[in-house]
Amino acid sequence: MTDENLSSHLAELDLSPSEEIAANANGTEALYAEADADYEAFWARQARERLTWSTDFGTTLDWSEAPFAKWFVGGELNVAYNCVDRHVEAGNGDRVAIHFEGEGGDSRTITYAQLQDDVCRTANALTELGVTKGDRVAVYLPMIPEAIATLLACARLGAPHSVIFGGFSAEALRTRIDDAEAKVVVTADGQWRRGKAAPLKPAVDAALDGGSTSVEKVLVVRRTESEIAWTEGRDIWWHDLVDGQSTEHTPEPMESEHPLFILYTSGTTGKPKGIFHTTAGYLAQAAYTNSVVHDVHPESDVYWCTADIGWVTGHSYIVYGPLANGATQVLYEGTPDTPHQGRWWEIIEKYKVSILYTAPTAIRTFMKWGDDIPAKFDLSSIRVLGSVGEPINPEAWLWYRKNIGGEKAPIVDTWWQTETGGIMISPLPGVTTLEPGSAQRPIPGISAEILDDDGKPFTEADKVGYLVLTKPWPGMLRGIWGDPERYKETYWSRFGEKYYFAGDGAKYDQKGNIWLLGRVDDVMNVSGHRLSTAEIESALVSHPAVAEAAVVGASDETTGQAVVAFAILRSEYVERADEEGEGADLVKELRDHVAKEIGPIAKPRSIMIVAELPKTRSGKIMRRLLKDVAENREVGDVTTLADSSVMNLISQGMKAPS
Ligand code: WTA
Repeated sequence: MTDENLSSHLAELDLSPSEEIAANANGTEALYAEADADYEAFWARQARERLTWSTDFGTTLDWSEAPFAKWFVGGELNVAYNCVDRHVEAGNGDRVAIHFEGEGGDSRTITYAQLQDDVCRTANALTELGVTKGDRVAVYLPMIPEAIATLLACARLGAPHSVIFGGFSAEALRTRIDDAEAKVVVTADGQWRRGKAAPLKPAVDAALDGGSTSVEKVLVVRRTESEIAWTEGRDIWWHDLVDGQSTEHTPEPMESEHPLFILYTSGTTGKPKGIFHTTAGYLAQAAYTNSVVHDVHPESDVYWCTADIGWVTGHSYIVYGPLANGATQVLYEGTPDTPHQGRWWEIIEKYKVSILYTAPTAIRTFMKWGDDIPAKFDLSSIRVLGSVGEPINPEAWLWYRKNIGGEKAPIVDTWWQTETGGIMISPLPGVTTLEPGSAQRPIPGISAEILDDDGKPFTEADKVGYLVLTKPWPGMLRGIWGDPERYKETYWSRFGEKYYFAGDGAKYDQKGNIWLLGRVDDVMNVSGHRLSTAEIESALVSHPAVAEAAVVGASDETTGQAVVAFAILRSEYVERADEEGEGADLVKELRDHVAKEIGPIAKPRSIMIVAELPKTRSGKIMRRLLKDVAENREVGDVTTLADSSVMNLISQGMKAPS
């Protein structure tokens, strides 16, 4: 579709709130007014009405040590009790909590009563392994019900979990385990990916090889029955330890600010940040947003969030939000094209999924595969669609609405971050007139502004600035694990201590909608996964052949951005690279090296061997120019370069056949 066709098509659409959804929507226009009048009182009401407290809180927000927030001070609750037990006590034990679908077609239906048994058994097992309140537990698991049981068992014991995405390498696992000083690692022998058993446990072995100072036990779920190495005394099978445990376990109330989990995310330096979240505020926001943004009605909806539990979306919108609300959800282990490209639509048809929450990169992939694939399935159960992870381009938005949403389901384009804990900017189904491509408006209770370079808020349309959050919110990160200074510096210094700097560019349109424009820092967004240029650069430089490296995120039709690297070789390797065929071998070796150091998701799409990198006179690499090259654009202003001829060489090299 040309841009012109697209805008005339958009102009013809009626995107006002559907009456059918509005009649029964959890979100209302009145919530905005209520929150605007007194946002603390608004959040206090959400927290009291949505959660079950062992002890009510006194102070809603203590901001006296800003930017370190304390929410719902004095209150106590248990997260696992809120996500499981109370639903059973309320008579909903027979309601399905999880429809699990394995990649190979094996499935399990787990009711809330069964989930309660699973969580209690797992909590008892972790206790037997010596886990007590405050201990950290690292989790490196596939998308299987045991992952949910593990997270909830940790929450039940007050042992913060640190989930590491299964696509991360042993090296990445090691730094994360060490940083959090995890006492126990929960993993599986492997996971099913594209019909094959992909190993997991070997990465844990490698990460702990050479001795970890903190890890005492490794609990291993048998999933793929692959042959794995075994360390006697350290490794324990899940079925040996967990299955025989008692299903009785008394949840202990935790203070509102007790740490719930740590989740590592890429920042602008090479070292990943351990973002940490606490108990009550996080849960209140996860439950509230899942209710008003996804419009979950637990008694009638079947909800499906396709994220991996290794990312924040999986934490907030598979585990904590939907379960706190008592929802029924689908959990799918595998890839969308196994055994065929209609797998997701088959799952929607099978379980009558009514709410689907996924990422633009997946939608663009389905667009490429063709409209005829979803058309073969009955998707009439769908009533709300969601998007997260990166801006959704209007074309993908329209495709999603038409082919998956039956031309009528509202799409909630939800902007948020690992750091924010829950959704921050999004339309509300049944309330908002939609604007394809825009996340539109802060949800009730959240305040955002756009600042110019001088830190002044503005509201003019089409002027590009920086998104900031102007008031604390319950689900906000409480810091970076072990590094309070870095927390202040990263988020609360760019525009002074009044503003949380999100790291995203943004603008308003003529109607006052907010459009998110991508990161303004050295963080890339590849298929909705955050990757830091510095982290990949340091992985490249850790290879003996590489003297210096620069990495940029280049726009990519399917993945949003792709990793493009430029590397200067050490002199001993320059000759080798020049020889016939050797250069290609070396590039492959370097790509694999990045996969080994960080994980396959970080593998550069291309690596260009260069003689020089463009630098300013003060020695700073000008990534902007490299990005021009990577995106096949005319190279921009080079006048600040120390040596302006460098860019000619690089551009010529890029155009040469590889
Ligand atoms: C980007 C994922 C535009 C943004 C929940 C943010 C988005 C980063 C959107 C956080 C959206 C996420 N529109 N951009 N709807 N959602 N982003 O921590 O750049 O993995 O800063 O959290 O993703 O990524 P994270």
